[in-house]
Amino acid sequence: MRTQVGIIGAGPAGLLLSHLLHLQGIESIVLEARSQQQVEKRVRAGILEQGTVDLLNETGVGARMMRQGLVHHGIELQFGHERRRIDFQELTAGKSVMVYAQHEVLKDLIEARLVAQGQLLFEVDDVTVGDLDGSKPKVQFRKDGSSQELICDFIAGCDGFHGVCRPAVPTEVLNVFERIYPFAWLGILAQAPPSSKELIYAYHERGFALLSMRSPEISRLYVQCPPDDDIRNWSDERIWQELHTRLECLDGWKLMEGPVLQKGITGMRSFVVEPMQYGRLFLAGDSAHIVPPTGAKGLNLAAADVRVLSRALGEYYASGKIYLLDSYSTTCLRRIWKVQRFSWWMTSMLHRFSDDNPFDQRRQLAELDYVTSSRAASVSLAENYVGLPMD
Ligand code: FAD
Ligand code: PHB
Repeated sequence: MRTQVGIIGAGPAGLLLSHLLHLQGIESIVLEARSQQQVEKRVRAGILEQGTVDLLNETGVGARMMRQGLVHHGIELQFGHERRRIDFQELTAGKSVMVYAQHEVLKDLIEARLVAQGQLLFEVDDVTVGDLDGSKPKVQFRKDGSSQELICDFIAGCDGFHGVCRPAVPTEVLNVFERIYPFAWLGILAQAPPSSKELIYAYHERGFALLSMRSPEISRLYVQCPPDDDIRNWSDERIWQELHTRLECLDGWKLMEGPVLQKGITGMRSFVVEPMQYGRLFLAGDSAHIVPPTGAKGLNLAAADVRVLSRALGEYYASGKIYLLDSYSTTCLRRIWKVQRFSWWMTSMLHRFSDDNPFDQRRQLAELDYVTSSRAASVSLAENYVGLPMD
């Protein structure tokens, strides 16, 4: 088999890259370990930055998102049982974010690729990448029990944090930057109308809590928990109890409960590798970097990476020039580090750390008070949340 760009992984990075390349007349094949059904069902991120929304619309895959997504013009920060609003529209000259589930974005992208007769191979096994520093890198894999080889001009490693592409780069080439947080998030999806029009990020002495949503009927809620906690320790009753306590507010507001449809625990880390390129392998999305979810940035960073990569590949196939490919890593990392900073900052401000002391707690409360009362600080939060410029 032969293609121009071999893409490993059908997550947001891989599928969006395949779509953006197709729009420039560049052929790709996407190889994915899971089934199409698994990819289309996996509950993960839910907030799209303004720039991600614009990109999906400009490239013709935003119609369902515009019909079913929920536009949010602000968020609430809660501390000391009081809520204060950050008004994105007012602070960022009209920008907003969209609540639209990651797996819905993936459904839209898969449909667009299939309509265009793009090649998506699901349920492939034993993927390995090789000859990365030569001119014809290759991917070996098994599909329906038989071994196959795909020869490419380039390989895009869009296979997430646990994929095979990053480990295929010689370790001496990669610089790894990492911070692991001493807590995790327990997340639930509940059949309950969202109890608030906007997201609520709550700082509480028992730990962080977040009220989010997926639709007018479905709530998405999170509580901070120990990093090694077991989901079996958390009955639905205990989860609701903790959510009620941490989200309780002085004005008599009530959290609405409903059947828990899904629950899980996700660890939190900040992670970056530099560079994001080795020979003809380009890493994009979670395979190159992870952010803690507090800033809602993981999916948006993946979209920003492949936007840069698709343009660089477009330039190469149009003119033979490689300068954009050569600067891919530097271009992406400049923005990635700013997003890392924001995600770390939101996380540090809103969570209880296992080793924190009364000084740190007062400092966190002062920070929340400052960020919600100083226009300069509110603008900073708002412009990062709706998304820094892509370029
Ligand atoms: P992924 O979405 O991880 O896609 C990688 C794909 O590659 C997967 O489909 C995987 O099956 C496939 N793959 C892996 N290895 C191989 C292989 N060897 N061969 C073939 N295919 C392979 N972000 C937020 O902003 N908010 C959230 O609430 C949030 N929740 C999250 C919950 C969880 C459990 C996780 C893991 C992440 C969450 N994130 C969240 C982060 C966000 O979902 C990711 O940043 C985003 O999915 C990154 O997209 P990606 O395409 O780079 O990687
Ligand atoms: C979500 O809805 O899943 C969500 C929202 C905001 C975040 C993280 C996750 O910061």
